[in-house]
Amino acid sequence: MKNDFISLTDFDAPTLLGLLDNADQLKADLKKGVPHKELAGRTLGMVFAKSSTRTRVSFEVGMYQLGGHALFLSSNEIQLGRGETISDTARVLSRYLDAIMIRNDSHADMVELAHHSSIPVINGLSERFHPCQVMADLQTIREHKGGLKGLKLAYVGDGNNMAHSLMNGCAILGMDIAVASPAEYQVDPVVSRQVREIAAHSGSGLVITEDPREAVSGADVVYTDTWVSMGQEELKRAKVPVFKNFQVNQDLMNLARKDAIFMHCLPAYRGYEVTEEVFEGPQSVVFDEAENRLHAQKAILLYAILGSL
Ligand code: CP
Ligand code: NVA
Repeated sequence: MKNDFISLTDFDAPTLLGLLDNADQLKADLKKGVPHKELAGRTLGMVFAKSSTRTRVSFEVGMYQLGGHALFLSSNEIQLGRGETISDTARVLSRYLDAIMIRNDSHADMVELAHHSSIPVINGLSERFHPCQVMADLQTIREHKGGLKGLKLAYVGDGNNMAHSLMNGCAILGMDIAVASPAEYQVDPVVSRQVREIAAHSGSGLVITEDPREAVSGADVVYTDTWVSMGQEELKRAKVPVFKNFQVNQDLMNLARKDAIFMHCLPAYRGYEVTEEVFEGPQSVVFDEAENRLHAQKAILLYAILGSL
């Protein structure tokens, strides 16, 4: 068994909490100057079919800090982009690398890549899930709130990859989640069905609504993401008017708890899903989240490559 990291639903609460503890330790050690070179001599291949700032830089820096090396592989510039099959690519890369991180627009292709690879595959975002981002988000919430269980997270916006992975992470760890999206852009019912089953065991609650005010009411965390994900650029004109009541502004934030934090995976589009006032305001922890990509992913790399938990 190899240690893929493709969807949070592949993990139980103790495993995710163990990864978060390791991420906290790696962060504290980095700040103290305590080195971690556990991945000396190891190489991560980073296959990107879409743009990235945070994922690319934090994985590359994370590998470097752990004593290893990362290779950027644009899918347009490797033979995969010219029709080499996923299974051949997987078997070739497995002969050189110690792990693959991939960002693409087909979760099914990512699963196929993992199936044919003898090395671990890490999901750096697919159109369905973004689990590495959510690990960084959970680390950030714990830092600001002192725990996770029993908190309420409200996600306002597109029922996309971020919404799906946040639902997964919150349900596994016993957080309540309310998701508010326009009727035609709700989360995938297949995901919500699975989340309801997980939530029934963990004691968390899931609310799916078209009313942002209902979702945000009493929330400890208010989260949003772009209305137009990568690959949907041609839908922007159609989507923006539909989402206009789903903007996170100060009036909406005021319905959450007084000490609520505002989160966004970034990149953010001010004036659309969030106002400048909220994004730059005192409740915003968006750059803590961005930083924690580095620490959370170092824990994921150690788990994937060495099995450390
Ligand atoms: N949040 C996130 O994944 O950012 P990038 O697209 O810049 O990697
Ligand atoms: N939902 C966004 C997340 C970007 C990190 C996208 O898929 O483009």
